[in-house]
Amino acid sequence: MVKTIFITGGAGFIGSHVIRRFATNYPDYKIINLDTLTYAGNLENIDDIASQPNYKFEKADISDFKAIERLFDLYKPDGVIHLAAESHVDRSITDPFVFVRTNVLGTCNLLYCAKELWRDNPEGKRFYHVSTDEVYGALEFDGTFFTEETKYAPHSPYSASKASSDHFVRAFHDTYGLPVVISNCSNNYGSHHFPEKLIPLAINNIKNNKPIPVYGKGENVRDWLFVEDHAAAIDIIFHRGKNGDTYNIGGNNEWKNIDLIRLLCDIMDRKLGRPQGESQKLITFVADRAGHDLRYAIDSSKLQRELGWAPSLTFEEGLEKTVDWYLANEKWIKNVTSGEYQDYYNKHYGQL
Ligand code: NAD
Ligand code: DAU
Repeated sequence: MVKTIFITGGAGFIGSHVIRRFATNYPDYKIINLDTLTYAGNLENIDDIASQPNYKFEKADISDFKAIERLFDLYKPDGVIHLAAESHVDRSITDPFVFVRTNVLGTCNLLYCAKELWRDNPEGKRFYHVSTDEVYGALEFDGTFFTEETKYAPHSPYSASKASSDHFVRAFHDTYGLPVVISNCSNNYGSHHFPEKLIPLAINNIKNNKPIPVYGKGENVRDWLFVEDHAAAIDIIFHRGKNGDTYNIGGNNEWKNIDLIRLLCDIMDRKLGRPQGESQKLITFVADRAGHDLRYAIDSSKLQRELGWAPSLTFEEGLEKTVDWYLANEKWIKNVTSGEYQDYYNKHYGQL
């Protein structure tokens, strides 16, 4: 029975949903959120569970080996669910080095500390690495899907760093016998998503009557999954996934960017009481992303067949919920767009 779990990146978008799910569903676990609070880390995302007795926050940079070693020594975790990462493709094109530091070196630091701690007693221990479908590269419009057997072919510095971290995880399993499991998920959407990513950026711009930037011709395809369904998959895989295995997670929900944006505009027109078609006037085609992957599509049949996971809602339902959350949480979006949220730590935990 796993007792103490490190969840890294728990102040970010997906990590906050994983923390909430685990802190709520597993009152007997001790959940330690390890996060250094980059621009993407926001403790307000988990405000609602911050005072629960089974939850604790530790401000730590995973690329700092000594800091991580100290925390492994202090808490002696039985499990690690590793989400901390630099996650935005456009930023990786501007500054690849921080992606290498956090995603590659940071992952290696965690793996090494787990290996040392669990060396004599790996029974019941688990290192869960949360990865992305982008490691598989890009698909054509040919009806094929990424499976767990698809050869790695990352294109962006972000996906190259995630691919590298996946290889390190498997290397620690094969070389040292570290008990690991990996999942590769498609594009997530939902509440608390930082508004540099397509869906929250578009929602915010539509609300404020600002142009919606669509890269290239908007023909690129992504496979969208509601973030709470990803958190549910992580829960299932963490507890029941096979040691050393990989699981693909996806919504079987492919959308061309331009079609998605048009749907979002229509939902927003309805919610904001604007005439239908009004928000679509904000669509602005801009220069394409360098090396822009054409299409992602995940085959998650292994996870569905072996562990019984399935997405819980349709894209239309999930988008409605997401839009409602953003419209109801104006303060959150104001704080993250102004950068004000970055004072949260000092206000609540004191200056370091
Ligand atoms: P995010 O950018 O919203 O959050 C990342 C979190 O990691 C932040 O809280 C940040 O402060 C923290 N962090 C960054 N560098 C750190 C460091 N050096 N030390 C400690 N903490 C650090 O990311 P997200 O979208 O929630 O993604 C979480 C994980 O899921 C990532 O590993 C990502 O690759 C993977 N993933 C994301 C998606 C998606 O659609 N967002 C899909 C599949 C997989
Ligand atoms: O597939 C999983 C990945 O999904 C995760 O591993 C990444 O962490 C996550 O950021 C996401 O990557 P994408 O690059 O697919 O997400 P993003 O929201 O940045 O872009 C989605 C699509 O929309 C992509 O084709 C680029 C396009 N786009 C994006 C932005 C920010 C636009 O057309 N305009 C924009 O302004």
